[in-house]
Amino acid sequence: MAEQTTNFKVTIDNITIEVAPGTSILEAARMIGGDITPPAMCFYTPLEGSGGKCRTCLVEVSKGSEKDPRPMPKLVASCRTGVMDGMEVKNITSEKVPDARAGVVEMLLANHPLDCPICDQAGECHLQDLGYEHGKEGTRYEFKRRTFERLDLGPYIQLHMNRCILCYRCVFAANQLSDKREHGVLDRGDHAQISTFIQNNLDNDMIGNVIDVCPVGALTDKTFRFKNRVWFTNPIDAHRNCDNPKCCGEVTLWNRGEDVLRVTARKNQWGEVMNTKNGKPGWICNTCRFDKKSMKDWTIEGPMKVSRHSVINQGHYQNTVKPHETISKVLDGRQPKLLMNIHDISGVNKK
Ligand code: SF4
Ligand code: FES
Repeated sequence: MAEQTTNFKVTIDNITIEVAPGTSILEAARMIGGDITPPAMCFYTPLEGSGGKCRTCLVEVSKGSEKDPRPMPKLVASCRTGVMDGMEVKNITSEKVPDARAGVVEMLLANHPLDCPICDQAGECHLQDLGYEHGKEGTRYEFKRRTFERLDLGPYIQLHMNRCILCYRCVFAANQLSDKREHGVLDRGDHAQISTFIQNNLDNDMIGNVIDVCPVGALTDKTFRFKNRVWFTNPIDAHRNCDNPKCCGEVTLWNRGEDVLRVTARKNQWGEVMNTKNGKPGWICNTCRFDKKSMKDWTIEGPMKVSRHSVINQGHYQNTVKPHETISKVLDGRQPKLLMNIHDISGVNKK
């Protein structure tokens, strides 16, 4: 007979929950949900080994366990600390956490450009959210920020190393989703950078998933770059029968009208790739992500269901009536978008 395991009782911000042994504080907090859930920039449930890099998930453990009630001497990373029976944790009720978290955000921003107005990740960037919630008004940093050359990771992915916070999610994703690892973190300290070894291109059919796991705008989709702001798009859940066995074929289409501007994996409220019906993470292949940009390629399910607090929801509209199009009438039938393609005349999008 299978051995019966006793659940652990853990109290987070005065809310008690029972969880299985081995659950981390962050996972327990997510089970409770709401404001008490610490932010996480590097932990990513579907990626084995992730977490412990960014320190944004710091919490105070005011009681270690029932057996040893001493508080933990320092704030701990909730994604890497397992719950103990009788543990008491403070996140939003802690006096120490807000200050520590503000320090972590200040540290992350010391080397992160404040280029949200032109960054494709704006509106769905976890660092942007964190900056709003815990950032300081000014900077104490007087030195030159680290700068790197922009790097093409294959035909579809652009790496902006200046924006990278070295969370390692993309390294884990590349390691765990492709057969051959070709990129990783090179060097250490403020020279550390995500790079392809000897500038190899990443041509694996699942490599586009590194874009989805990147919490900031360091890895972006070249087919979407500078095409639109995410809050002007209308996210729609859709699927297709993809013949790639590693691809789940279940995606979110980011549309403007009938134009599919971007295709991504579906994400949950924590910004992580959602599990599909068979319980496996819903990674998608490069063909679905980069090549299927027509509504005809997809079976439409309806507006994206998962809501985040971010501005993404701005475009989450249903049953709208499209206004009568008059421009092409005025322009003798010509389509305005065919008059000028910004990418032909602007150097912004070029390396
Ligand atoms: S490129 Fe993005 S996912 Fe990769 S380490 Fe940097 S911030 Fe993390
Ligand atoms: S999410 Fe816990 S250290 Fe980054």
